[in-house]
Amino acid sequence: MEKLMISGGRPLHGTVQISGAKNSAIALLPAAILAESEVVLDNLPQLSDVAVYIEILEDLGATVTWEDNQIKINPSHIKSIPMPNGPVKKLRASYYMMGALLGRFGEAIIGLPGGCNFEPRPIDQHIKGFEALGATVSNEHGAIHLHAKELRGARVYLDVSSVGATINIMLAAARAKGSTIIENAAKEPEIIDVATLLNSMGAIIKGAGTETIRIEGVKELHGCRHSIIPDRIQAGTYMIAAAATGGNVLIDNVIPKHLEALTAKLIEMGVKIEELDESIRVIGGGPYHHVDVKALVYPGFPTDLQSPMTSLLTQAEGVSVLSDFVYSNRFKHVPELVRMGAKIRVEGRSAIIEGSKLNAAKVKATDLRAGAALVIAGLTVEEGITEVSGVEFIDRGYDHLVTKLRSLGADVWRQTE
Ligand code: EPU
Repeated sequence: MEKLMISGGRPLHGTVQISGAKNSAIALLPAAILAESEVVLDNLPQLSDVAVYIEILEDLGATVTWEDNQIKINPSHIKSIPMPNGPVKKLRASYYMMGALLGRFGEAIIGLPGGCNFEPRPIDQHIKGFEALGATVSNEHGAIHLHAKELRGARVYLDVSSVGATINIMLAAARAKGSTIIENAAKEPEIIDVATLLNSMGAIIKGAGTETIRIEGVKELHGCRHSIIPDRIQAGTYMIAAAATGGNVLIDNVIPKHLEALTAKLIEMGVKIEELDESIRVIGGGPYHHVDVKALVYPGFPTDLQSPMTSLLTQAEGVSVLSDFVYSNRFKHVPELVRMGAKIRVEGRSAIIEGSKLNAAKVKATDLRAGAALVIAGLTVEEGITEVSGVEFIDRGYDHLVTKLRSLGADVWRQTE
């Protein structure tokens, strides 16, 4: 086991390149198995979650070549084998194997997903979608069994605009007979990315990025080449880190529009932002004003930046209120920040944060974004060394974290526990 050691108090300076989006990549990899020939994905992030997904595709019989940021997946010889255990248990997004295998073979057995379990995360809306398309779904000893003689297009209204359910239904419906309409669909950029890949493979999907998505099923899909969109959450994390340390950082390879909710909040706090075509410069320094933040579905403030933002708000004057309306209890980073001297209390869906200096401590990342929050907090500490354990969570979503932070002037290293 490794931990991250952070000797903070240095403003970040320089340029950081943002990788392809994790939450796109782990939906695009299973989407590729719907094709009958080779799919090439560029701008693939080098993450542990991606490595696990590749293991799953290889177990199914796909031929995979992964070099640097490009992956070639040839799924022409895959088979639908039951996967009640094994790598599917290691990540949450293995639920996309349900939609992808159902779409290609009309059957799948997939163990209930693992991943960052900061609170119970149901998949009832995914199941509702599969059933609407004509599949029978049962939970047998912790594995979901799906079967459909023939998938037929249907109208599905999502009770919650879930990212995972929207993508999973698109995967299952792309090759179904007839048309599917997803109402109250999620609008996150990753959904547009998946629809773009599927359309390049020959699917007919319209309206991705709006609340109504229409899918005209086609018989067969073919290979193609696709470049993954930049990771808006990784970008946002570096923006927040730049602001928290009073640095000056150019965040490169981003789509600034995807970060509008964060940019607006940073400006409201008093951070200077310069937006360019594919990059954003963040100039911090303070003093920062307290702000209220509400994490919502896209285009609202992303829940995945709620924890990193908590760390930044400890550096603002006065009292800020940060509420999460996507997850009701995603606050596992708070007790750890309190160990570092933060003055935060959680009330219902909100964290109430009073500005204060943080001190070095030994803290534990219990999920990916909580880990990012602790790293940012550690970077602000002026004396002593902050130790963050649970690095394996951080590795799920931040590739080359130490290298990137060191190139910005941070004193950060990994140490074996
Ligand atoms: N929900 C249901 N029923 C469902 C599905 C979701 O009630 O069937 C609820 C969830 O409990 C939650 C809300 O709907 O309260 C949103 O969940 P959603 O399904 O949108 O989340 P997800 O698809 O499982 C993805 C990302 C998360 C990100 C959320 C919200 C992936 C693999 N994960 O999760 O990313 O927080 O969307 O944007 O794409 C992360 O990257 O750290 C991460 C957790």
